[in-house]
Amino acid sequence: MNKETVLISGGAGYIGSHTAVALVEAGFDVVIIDNLSNSERGAIDGVERILGQKVAFELVDTCDKDALRGVFERHQFNTVIHFAAYKAVGESMDEPLKYYQNNLVSFMNIVEMMHDFNRPNILFSSSATVYGEADTLPVTEQTPRQPATSPYGNTKQIAEDILHDCCRAYAGLYGIALRYFNPIGAHPSALIGELPRGVPNNLLPFVTQTAAGIRECLSVFGDDYDTPDGTCLRDYIDVVDLAKAHVAAVRRMTAGKMAEKYEIFNVGTGRPVSVLELISRFEAVNDIKLPYKIVARRPGDVPAVWADTSLANEVLGWKAERSLDDTLRSAWAWEKHIRHMS
Ligand code: UD1
Repeated sequence: MNKETVLISGGAGYIGSHTAVALVEAGFDVVIIDNLSNSERGAIDGVERILGQKVAFELVDTCDKDALRGVFERHQFNTVIHFAAYKAVGESMDEPLKYYQNNLVSFMNIVEMMHDFNRPNILFSSSATVYGEADTLPVTEQTPRQPATSPYGNTKQIAEDILHDCCRAYAGLYGIALRYFNPIGAHPSALIGELPRGVPNNLLPFVTQTAAGIRECLSVFGDDYDTPDGTCLRDYIDVVDLAKAHVAAVRRMTAGKMAEKYEIFNVGTGRPVSVLELISRFEAVNDIKLPYKIVARRPGDVPAVWADTSLANEVLGWKAERSLDDTLRSAWAWEKHIRHMS
């Protein structure tokens, strides 16, 4: 029997590369496209080393509709996972057009090609950022979205709406949006992981770079929130677990099991963890002392957000499995790998 093929846009990126591995391990073929604007060719090498086989990779910008059409002409697949997007919140405030242009044009090109070529299934990388500062916690998929606080967040909301509208309008199109909470960690092989360019915006890369001596001191943004230790609460989801959620969603789509034409799933652990708790676990499991200081709150941060994961647990049959400690070990192993420290 021929294997199902999945097209992965942005498959050289952090979540895309882990998902490519998980899909091939689950018996799918993959075709990866990426313009390498915020990722490295080395990620594909890492994927191939983990799998012990070549994967199809094409240097394609999803904003280039003609190039994308060529991909659809050359490859037969029923499902696309669309990761390709810019993701720096601060940059999106300074350069909103860059974000709307890239994130929305690339997504609309994908949807248009799916429609033109009669390919049914689109899996979209959404984000817990769409919930903003929710009134009730944990958030379920029914929790109302709040107005986006950044152009980046707005592109996620708009793309969700585009997908919803297109699934409603086009009989042959099915969509799933996965709302990721805070993805962290790396593959246990330490051959793929997160590769931030410049100064990291996200907590974990800043932690590992501080541990590696690249950053002098970690700033904890605020300890006067209305939370148990005063620092923000987040739901940190291991990237390998997150990758497996994509496999479960792809299976649901390819098996024709969707109950609605457009479905949304939270992908998190369901467990809130504070910034200080994350730092102390990182220190404990890796036997490292992290220099950190408390500074002012970061504008735009919400005090707390974590997922109700019941829907993904029950409907996708997926559950986060890796312990926070193992995830934090993997993040440090990856940092050491890229710094040639181990
Ligand atoms: C951020 C984005 C979110 C995006 C997600 C992608 C903002 C406001 N939100 O989420 O839209 O989808 O990344 O992964 O940027 N922290 C520190 N010191 C640091 C960095 C972070 O204390 O140097 C704290 C933050 O205040 C926050 C927590 O760590 O409480 C997590 O921050 P981060 O990793 O940036 O993720 P989010 O802000 O949750």
